[in-house]
Amino acid sequence: MVDYSNLLNKRRSSRHYLDESFSNQKMEMIKDQLAKLKPLDPKITTRFVITDRDKTKAKFGRYSLLAYSEVKPGYLLNIGYMLEQFDLLMNANDIGTCWYGLAKEDNNLEGLSFVIMIVFGKTEENLNQDRTRINRKSKDLIWQGDFDARVKEMVCLAPSAVNSQPWRFISEKNTINVYRQINYRTFIPISKRLYFNTIDVGISLCFLEIALTKLGYNFTRRLIHGESDDEKERLVEYAIL
Ligand SMILES: Cc1cc2nc3c(=O)[nH]c(=O)nc-3n(C[C@H](O)[C@H](O)[C@H](O)COP(=O)(O)O)c2cc1C
Repeated sequence: MVDYSNLLNKRRSSRHYLDESFSNQKMEMIKDQLAKLKPLDPKITTRFVITDRDKTKAKFGRYSLLAYSEVKPGYLLNIGYMLEQFDLLMNANDIGTCWYGLAKEDNNLEGLSFVIMIVFGKTEENLNQDRTRINRKSKDLIWQGDFDARVKEMVCLAPSAVNSQPWRFISEKNTINVYRQINYRTFIPISKRLYFNTIDVGISLCFLEIALTKLGYNFTRRLIHGESDDEKERLVEYAIL
């Protein structure tokens, strides 16, 4: 995982874009980096396609990155984890991004299902400065148990659909368990909540691993493929070595 730790409190969703195209060289750089995103589960086949945003159902952005995946246990976590690296990479290059769950593509690609898109492009936002106010839940609500407070703070900054922050962490001795909690007040139906909030948890894993790595922790992870729709379901277990 690339060290994006200095971006966790800089990155943001950009919703105002300039109508400017990237040079071929810049687009090649982006495609090159796309191929280097680290999967959470390398056994899940994924494909990423960049297209003009106005060829998709998204309402803003200059380009859309469409994510396709095999549908098998862990695929939503995997896409969240991978595309968050793209989100951070773009922000690192002064390129605006916004996860865009509201725009669904009908087409599938070579047997892979469309999962979600991120729009991106040149933006009016200044991406190169720390955010003064980030609207997030407190670390005490998100994380139960003793652990390095710096890791807790970094994880809490992750973005999520409608800012729902459905991740919960419970640490005990050398183990961190990651849960998805979906019993918050919202207009979003439960099936959609499960879908987007699982992607969100994948995003939080990206933040967690960036924080752990930056602060010198070695770890292994185990994905737990439960089938239940429990309000609070354990999805991943980390062992700190
Ligand atoms: C899975 C996912 C789907 C999202 N879908 C949309 C969307 O359809 N439209 C939108 O404007 N923002 C969308 N967002 C952006 C969130 O609203 C945003 O990340 C959150 O409010 C936190 O704000 P920040 O990204 O500026 O820190 C989505 C975010 C995620 C992670």
